[in-house]
Amino acid sequence: MEVKTSLLDNMIGVGDMVLLEPLSEDSFLENLRKRFDHSEIYTYIGSVVISMNPYRSLPIFTPDKVEEYRNRNFYELSPHIYALADEAYRSLRDQDKDQCILITGESGAGKTEASKLVMSYVAAVCGKGQEVNKVKEQLLQSNPVLEAFGNAKTVRNDNSSRFGKYMDIEFDFKGDPLGGVISNYLLEKSRVVKQPRGERNFHVFYQLLSGASDDTLKKLKLERDFSKYNYLSLDSAAVNGLDDAANFRTVRNAMQIVGFMEDEVQSVLELVAAVLKLGNIEFKPESRCNGTDESRVKDKNDLKEMCELLGIEQSVLERAFSYRTVEAKLEKVSTTLNVAQAYYARDALAKNLYSRLFTWLVSRINESIKAQAKTRHKVMGVLDIYGFEIFEDNSFEQFIINYCNEKLQQIFIELTLREEQEEYVREGIEWTNIEYFNNAIICDLIENNQNGILAMLDEECLRPGTVTDETFLDKLNTICAEHQHFESRLSKNSKFLTDHSLPHSCFRIQHYAGKVLYRVEGFVDKNNDLLYRDLSQAMYKANHSLIKQLFPEGNPAKVNLKRPPTAGTQFKTSVGTLMRNLQTKNPNYIRCIKPNDKKASHIFTESLVCHQVRYLGLMENVRVRRAGYAFRQAYEPCLERYKMLCKKTWPHWRGPAREGVEVLMADLQVPAEEFSYGRSKIFIRNPRTLFFLEERRRQCLQDLAALIQKIYRGWKCRSRFLLMKKSQVVVSAWYRRYAQQKKYKQVKSATTVVQSYTRGWQARKLLRELKYQKRCEEAVTTISAFWHGTQARRELRRLKEEARRKHAVAVIWAFWQGLKVRREYRKFFRANAGKKIYEFTIQRIMQKYFLGLKSSMPSMSPIDRKWPARPYRFLDGVHTELRRIFHLWRCKKYRGQFTEERKAVYEEKLEASEIFKDKKALYPSSVSQPFKGDYLEISKNPKYQKLNSAVDEKVLLADVVNKINRANGKGTARIFLLTKKSVLLADQKTGQVKASVPLPDVASVSVSTQSDGFFALKLKEGSASAVKGDFLLSSEHLIEIITKLHRIGATAADREQLNVDISDEFLVQFKQDKVCVKFIQGGPKNGSSVSCKRKNNRLLEVSVPTTA
Ligand SMILES: Nc1ncnc2c1ncn2[C@@H]1O[C@H](COP(=O)(O)OP(=O)(O)OP(=O)(O)O)[C@@H](O)[C@H]1O
Ligand SMILES: [Mg+2]
Repeated sequence: MEVKTSLLDNMIGVGDMVLLEPLSEDSFLENLRKRFDHSEIYTYIGSVVISMNPYRSLPIFTPDKVEEYRNRNFYELSPHIYALADEAYRSLRDQDKDQCILITGESGAGKTEASKLVMSYVAAVCGKGQEVNKVKEQLLQSNPVLEAFGNAKTVRNDNSSRFGKYMDIEFDFKGDPLGGVISNYLLEKSRVVKQPRGERNFHVFYQLLSGASDDTLKKLKLERDFSKYNYLSLDSAAVNGLDDAANFRTVRNAMQIVGFMEDEVQSVLELVAAVLKLGNIEFKPESRCNGTDESRVKDKNDLKEMCELLGIEQSVLERAFSYRTVEAKLEKVSTTLNVAQAYYARDALAKNLYSRLFTWLVSRINESIKAQAKTRHKVMGVLDIYGFEIFEDNSFEQFIINYCNEKLQQIFIELTLREEQEEYVREGIEWTNIEYFNNAIICDLIENNQNGILAMLDEECLRPGTVTDETFLDKLNTICAEHQHFESRLSKNSKFLTDHSLPHSCFRIQHYAGKVLYRVEGFVDKNNDLLYRDLSQAMYKANHSLIKQLFPEGNPAKVNLKRPPTAGTQFKTSVGTLMRNLQTKNPNYIRCIKPNDKKASHIFTESLVCHQVRYLGLMENVRVRRAGYAFRQAYEPCLERYKMLCKKTWPHWRGPAREGVEVLMADLQVPAEEFSYGRSKIFIRNPRTLFFLEERRRQCLQDLAALIQKIYRGWKCRSRFLLMKKSQVVVSAWYRRYAQQKKYKQVKSATTVVQSYTRGWQARKLLRELKYQKRCEEAVTTISAFWHGTQARRELRRLKEEARRKHAVAVIWAFWQGLKVRREYRKFFRANAGKKIYEFTIQRIMQKYFLGLKSSMPSMSPIDRKWPARPYRFLDGVHTELRRIFHLWRCKKYRGQFTEERKAVYEEKLEASEIFKDKKALYPSSVSQPFKGDYLEISKNPKYQKLNSAVDEKVLLADVVNKINRANGKGTARIFLLTKKSVLLADQKTGQVKASVPLPDVASVSVSTQSDGFFALKLKEGSASAVKGDFLLSSEHLIEIITKLHRIGATAADREQLNVDISDEFLVQFKQDKVCVKFIQGGPKNGSSVSCKRKNNRLLEVSVPTTA
């Protein structure tokens, strides 16, 4: 079921100002404030929507909200701009009425935002489809383009529209959008060249410099830095919350969607760049010979770049900035421009260039968005125009703007009243005259063709002779002096002669929204809006398609000497057209109000709002609306809402709704003058009556709510009781079942226990009986077993006794037999067999011994001491003998392998052993050393060649020995040579023979028992060699030398054996003296070497290290 709501439900304050009771400015403001504080930014005055700027985003513009307001009656839901948009769209679609939405309010009040909300709502609810969507998108995307070029940051609004905009959106019979037409009004072009403090130029300049790529900027000969351009104000170049670079991309994208070609976009940007360049052109004075000052361009670089951008010949433009040509009918007069005039011309050109570009943009957009189909269109116009402006300093622009607002107010009053009237006629209600202020008189003061202010301004502008703003004011003072709404200090009306709030250079108009003081300065100039013809001709000559289009008057072929219409006239004409256009449509009003001057949310500045309420004429609006009937409502919703107030209509009225309402009103005894019955609606004159109805309804609703609550609670309790009762039965049934189940289980388990006990008892009883029986049986068995056992054992004993006796008999017999046999045997064996057995056994043992020996023979090495163990002791002698024989045989075999040389070596070794073994401690270490003989290789070594040749015998031994000096015991190295015949000592270095001793002269050799290499060669006394005395020598190869010496003695047939004397003390003959050589065991301090020291004349002590 659809929930029926109403504007009157959940109201904060009153949703419709018409219902305000009592109606006063204070209560009006209080209602606005209350609603604003609760974020209710929309309030109605009848069908007019008052919109407060929230300065923050509210969650009331969502797609859900669009759906909520879609196809709902205007008063059905709480006030919203969507309700107005929906009402307008549905009347357009369903009733075929063209609509216009008039949005007014001061700068920053939210007009542009409101217009966008309306457009987006209509776009959301109207038909869909590829083509329709494209049209919608183009219409919506025209906004960012126009905002970039036509909006600017002002002190009042960061995105202030600096032009008026009226857009006709065209729909087909189904309500689908077909296209649109945009009209623009009076762009504030003065902003291009100069911006008030805290404001900035049009957005597009900043967007271009911030957002264009480096490449684009280079092409446009621009630099990114704002400070490079005179026309850009710097103090507020960056605006909080405004991303110029991102917006530039949005604008380019929007231009593309709207249908701009790439070269068109480029041309537009070139023009924007040209305006910036133009601002940088500066002039300097140059004196001429006739004494006048002529202007010259200071730095021609910017001029050059600008001319390059626009394809203009530089000299042509330069001349246009220096001269002005005035053409009369027959003659042409050229005058020079001074610096001030040149600047004026430059700025005029910039302003014209930009404003014409803007107009071109609008027409270009129109070309794109214009409806294609030629069928009849339904039209919805959206007017976003500047609101009434009252500044401290009001000039021509404010005058024009306020004139426009006067016209809108007029049309508002006219249309509101007309609509009211039409409704009364439609509903058949008697017309009651409504008192209201008609501002037609003010419009007349401004626009009257004969003596209107605009007409007089034009007259002044066109008049020959000196024309100034003052002459214009004089004119006004004379012509308008009598007018009620015109005030001037100098007018004939003496009332203002002493009014100091009215300066001499000003005039004041009493507008419908308040008095405004206008300063006349600049009126004439701005109205003329002149651009020197030289400049427009220079522009026309440009080699740039767009520029040429913008300055058609520069075409020399079409020189028009007629003055172009003044700005005032142009505006008046366009406003006239607009008004005529609006009058044909059904108006819908959105009155925007700005809550504070700080652009802040949640601040409600009462004085500011009060001012706006006044000049927007809102109180007037409420009064007009209430002049007739304050409230009207169709019979059905009225009956639906209040039927509970009367028993006859509650809860259902079966008859027609109107009769129901009549019965209701009669029952409630509402005075007849308070309401009237229309054809489809009831008209309530006074809000009081409506509130009376509402109050009764509220009370009734409370009673009804109590009744519903009562019935509901009773029903709820009853149903709860029944439910509990039903539940109780179920619960008790379940419980009983559960209890019985539990009891049954208990009985069952007890029975089982009793049963098991009984069975156990019976079983045990039976077991006992069985056991007794078994024991009896066992006892019998045991007794019989014992009895049998006793019997058997007795028998066994008897049998054993018998067997023993038998055995004893057998043994005794066997012994007797054995004894007999052995006696026999002994007699026989001793006689023959014993000897043979013994020999055989010995033979076998020997055989086994030899075979065993054979298999375990030791190796053939003579030094192998292994020999198998003997098996029987009686073989001891044989075993030792066999070992000796084997060793001898083994040695013989070993010797048999020797060559002659090795044999000689071993013989020598054997001899050494015979001489030294166990006699000299040095001997064991020499056993392993082979006797090499020639250690010096004397025959081969060339060093000893001479020595070798001196010896004629074969050298048996050659070695280096130490000859011990008898004086100090120190040794001198000598070569020791031994031949078969002699011993030679030679110098080691030179090889010179020092001593030669024939062997027969050697008597004996003395050596110590210790490990030293000392030996003394003792010579036979009286021999030739003995003159010098004996030799005391030391050699590493002592054993070999002595052995060899001994052997020569042994082998020589002519000589006796050499005597080897081994003792630790011997005498040596040194020349005449005999010296005793004594060998002692040296202590560890002597180290490991042998040392020889002369102790005294008779003693030479040799200290030999202890051998381990
Ligand atoms: N409904 C809204 N919700 C949120 N913010 C809003 C709303 N309406 C307006 N504003 C804020 O107020 C600012 C000014 O609004 P807008 O530009 O519509 O003012 P305007 O009446 O068109 O002013 P001007 O006459 O200078 O063009 C917006 O930029 C936006 O920040
Ligand atoms: Mg705006």
